[in-house]
Amino acid sequence: MSEQTTEDGDGGGATIDALLAEHRTFPPPAWIKKEALVTGTFLYDEAARDDQGFWARQAGELLDWEREWDTICDWQLPYSRWFVGGTLNVAHNCVDRHVAAGRGDKVAIHFEGEPGDERTVTYAELLDEVQRFANALKDLGVQAGDRVNIYLPMIPEAAVAMLACARIGAAHSVVFGGFSSQALADRINDAEAKVLITADGGHRRGEVFPLKPAADEAVASTSTIEHVVVVRRGGNDVEMVDGRDHWYHELVAAAAPDCPAAAFDAEQLLFLLYTSGTTGKPKGIMHTSGGYLTQVAFTHKYVFDLHPETDVFWCTADVGWVTGHSYVVYGPLANGASIVMYEGVPNHPGNDRFWAIVEKYGVTIFYTAPTAIRTFMKWGAEEPAKHDLSSLRVIGTVGEPINPEAWMWYHVNIGGERCPIVDTWWQTETGAIMISPLPGATTTKPGSATFPLPGITAEVVDEAGAPVTVGGGYLTLTRPWPSMLRGIWGDPERYRETYWSRYPDRYFAGDGAKLDEDGYLWLLGRVDDVMNVSGHRISTTEVESALVSHPKVAEAAVVGASDAMTGQAIIAYVTLRGGADVPIGELREHVAKEIGSLAKPKTIYLTPDLPKTRSGKIMRRLLRDVAEGRNLGDTTTLADASVVDEIQRRAADTPAEG
Ligand code: PRX
Repeated sequence: MSEQTTEDGDGGGATIDALLAEHRTFPPPAWIKKEALVTGTFLYDEAARDDQGFWARQAGELLDWEREWDTICDWQLPYSRWFVGGTLNVAHNCVDRHVAAGRGDKVAIHFEGEPGDERTVTYAELLDEVQRFANALKDLGVQAGDRVNIYLPMIPEAAVAMLACARIGAAHSVVFGGFSSQALADRINDAEAKVLITADGGHRRGEVFPLKPAADEAVASTSTIEHVVVVRRGGNDVEMVDGRDHWYHELVAAAAPDCPAAAFDAEQLLFLLYTSGTTGKPKGIMHTSGGYLTQVAFTHKYVFDLHPETDVFWCTADVGWVTGHSYVVYGPLANGASIVMYEGVPNHPGNDRFWAIVEKYGVTIFYTAPTAIRTFMKWGAEEPAKHDLSSLRVIGTVGEPINPEAWMWYHVNIGGERCPIVDTWWQTETGAIMISPLPGATTTKPGSATFPLPGITAEVVDEAGAPVTVGGGYLTLTRPWPSMLRGIWGDPERYRETYWSRYPDRYFAGDGAKLDEDGYLWLLGRVDDVMNVSGHRISTTEVESALVSHPKVAEAAVVGASDAMTGQAIIAYVTLRGGADVPIGELREHVAKEIGSLAKPKTIYLTPDLPKTRSGKIMRRLLRDVAEGRNLGDTTTLADASVVDEIQRRAADTPAEG
């Protein structure tokens, strides 16, 4: 295997197989360094001297404030408030100020629909639509502090809806369009949202998927929704409830064109975003305005080495996830960048759709998930090779650990062995990127997220909380950061318990990590009962609850097992009620109906019993071992050891349901 260190990040023409060695290093390419915003360590040095002062400088430089703050950070563990006393309007920062600076004709959004339709939205057009829709929301009774639910496909109206809420000080709660009506209802109820913004349907895999019927079903089991706004996108027939439902285009056409952007407190709630935890109930993660926008703007600018005049930025995440919030909408628009927004799947009409889009819009910065990269690997290097990808400059990944082979494939086949890769670690809770290389400054290693960004302090600690210098442990964050979550909606106890109780004075991220001899961080995945399937967090408990809600199911245990394609796959062990029989497919569909297709178990094993300790706890470790085909370790604590033999026999006999 080759051991050379490549100048210019040039793979030297070696094959992928030969590049597998993890000790290879890739210094910033010379052509990137020439124009890079950061090449040395000055940002790190400045932040190390005074992290709060560093963030205050970023807040002042990157954003417009109506009133400057009195205090940079008020830190009362586990709560932080940033830029206390300052006021700003998030929508003004993402839209108005760019138009006011004469950049109204600049493209904000290049929208590509899955069927091939396109729409270009300039900053001036975005401003017009955001103002009108903000007025429409006000006319529907939405006030500052209210919550608005958004359940939309990946269309420009999703960004408009988020920005319109921000403009009037209302908080949005976006629910991924792939979630079921039940999941939507739970989130609406928890947030007590007043208005729901949805669409008739959207395009996916060459078909129209209806959203409005699911939205109707959800609203039927909620009591707070007063109005439903419906964007026409799928063209499918929908029923409109008189007085409650309104067409988006009619509201926007009728609304007053001017809606002044009043300033709100830096700590005004900007959004709730629900994410899975180790118990069944999703957590409404709270993010506020000034600190959040500062850090997403900062990270978007420096992690991707943004040159907003010339760059075309494409983050492939859906707005239903935090990545879509921070790097489709808020970060890029705060920085006045041009983004690509794509509605559909990567394999419609062909497996080269993403690369066709990169070529068509001249994408310069591309940000996606390792699970997508592994899928592209499976489809073969000939797909990207059909297109001219020479516009690309920086490419990134997020959502799960990227294995070195996938990193190398990305480097060679998408990055043309010339683009730096930024492997970015962060979470819904952190709001913005925390650990990542900087393209012009950091020597990368395939599979390592490298170092905490300037202004961020991360430490790997052992079981007892002592810092680890070399080796494995648990990832913790030791200083508050501007875009940190402000809590869990309606559940301060759970906030403290989940993130701040395992180690005193530290935020525990729930991830394992190791530090190598050079101080590089390698993320090792979740250490709790949260699975990471295709970069999406799903709790084992939630899937178990969904299974058990089927009338024929008595008990269920769910584990995440390593999967070459999706990172982890959901494996369920199900015990049926006495005498009952049910097709596996029906159970999988039941989970899809309860939570959404993304939570469908890949494999379900029916078993007469589950392995339990004598105190009745399900031994998941054993089930994970079975699912991953490992030899079982210690089974002496089992109440009934024969159960495991039976499960292993069934696992060997049952064909995987995929
Ligand atoms: O386990 C880590 C993994 O994704 C989790 C956060 O998931 P979520 O809140 O859904 O946000 C995903 C997008 C920010 C983390 O706890 N994760 C995220 N990025 C990486 C990662 N694991 C390894 N490397 C990464 N770059």
